[in-house]
Amino acid sequence: MKISNYFLLLPLPLTLIIFFLVFSLQPNTVTNPPTPENPTYSSGDLKIRPGYGSYELYIQHQLNKTLNPKLRKIWTTSDWERKVQVFAKFFQLLKQRQLLHNHSKALSIGARVGQEVEALRRVGVSDSVGIDLVPCPPLVIKGDFHNQPFDNDTFDFEFSNVFDHALYPQKFVAEIERTLKPDGVCVLHVALSGRPDKYSANDLFSVKPLVEMFKGSKLVHIRKVDGFGLDTEVVFQKKKIIKPSSS
Ligand SMILES: *[C@@H]1O[C@H](CO)[C@@H](O)[C@H](O)[C@H]1NC(C)=O
Ligand SMILES: *[C@@H]1O[C@H](CO)[C@@H](O)[C@H](O)[C@H]1NC(C)=O
Ligand SMILES: *[C@@H]1O[C@H](CO)[C@@H](O)[C@H](O)[C@H]1NC(C)=O
Repeated sequence: MKISNYFLLLPLPLTLIIFFLVFSLQPNTVTNPPTPENPTYSSGDLKIRPGYGSYELYIQHQLNKTLNPKLRKIWTTSDWERKVQVFAKFFQLLKQRQLLHNHSKALSIGARVGQEVEALRRVGVSDSVGIDLVPCPPLVIKGDFHNQPFDNDTFDFEFSNVFDHALYPQKFVAEIERTLKPDGVCVLHVALSGRPDKYSANDLFSVKPLVEMFKGSKLVHIRKVDGFGLDTEVVFQKKKIIKPSSS
């Protein structure tokens, strides 16, 4: 039997552990995550792309893609059904794993025209909405993922495939942890190979920086996906807050 065939005999959890170990054994790690004061931070497996002189220029650059009329047309027409169906399959799987439920209050971050929100609603998650810099009613409302327009502890579930667009990844993650309810689930689709998108603001080379930034959450699973140029699904669950006993 070929060596590679032995892997087929391993149970799925073991495969995931091996997968995680391979990533976590990579040498460079982020010990000092980027801050808004230090946008050109660059180290290890998470690199912020240089060249954004100010937050305003960064926002303008992102808006250039989001507002592109040709792209918006494609997203809402020829792209729509194909993408909605792929997202619906991802969400269906998450429901099977009890990470998403019909009654979940769900958010899609960086939702553009709302394909993921439509997919969430189609699989039965009716209380779902998206945010993006440009609103697209009724599925997507205006909101910056660096400063989510929601109260603490609002959502049961958050999904995003735009982590690479974050200029301040630490803030992106902190906002998710702030707006998730305790036990709430965050699903990120990321590219671990450096995605050649000129609108990306960072490059991620392993899941390790994510695990370090999601300080208030536990890692649920990592798996390979085929998600429109994004190859890895990383799922976190926000920890319950342990109230200090007042004595
Ligand atoms: C946005 O697009 C406009 C017009 O295409 C261009 O002039 C401008 O430089 C772009 N801004 C950024 C920040 O990319
Ligand atoms: C969830 O919603 C879907 C789609 O509306 C429906 O088919 C399914 O029966 C619902 N599941 C539960 C557990 O209510
Ligand atoms: C919301 O959460 C943030 C971060 O955890 C915390 O600093 C802030 O005090 C909280 N705000 C409220 C109103 O509880």
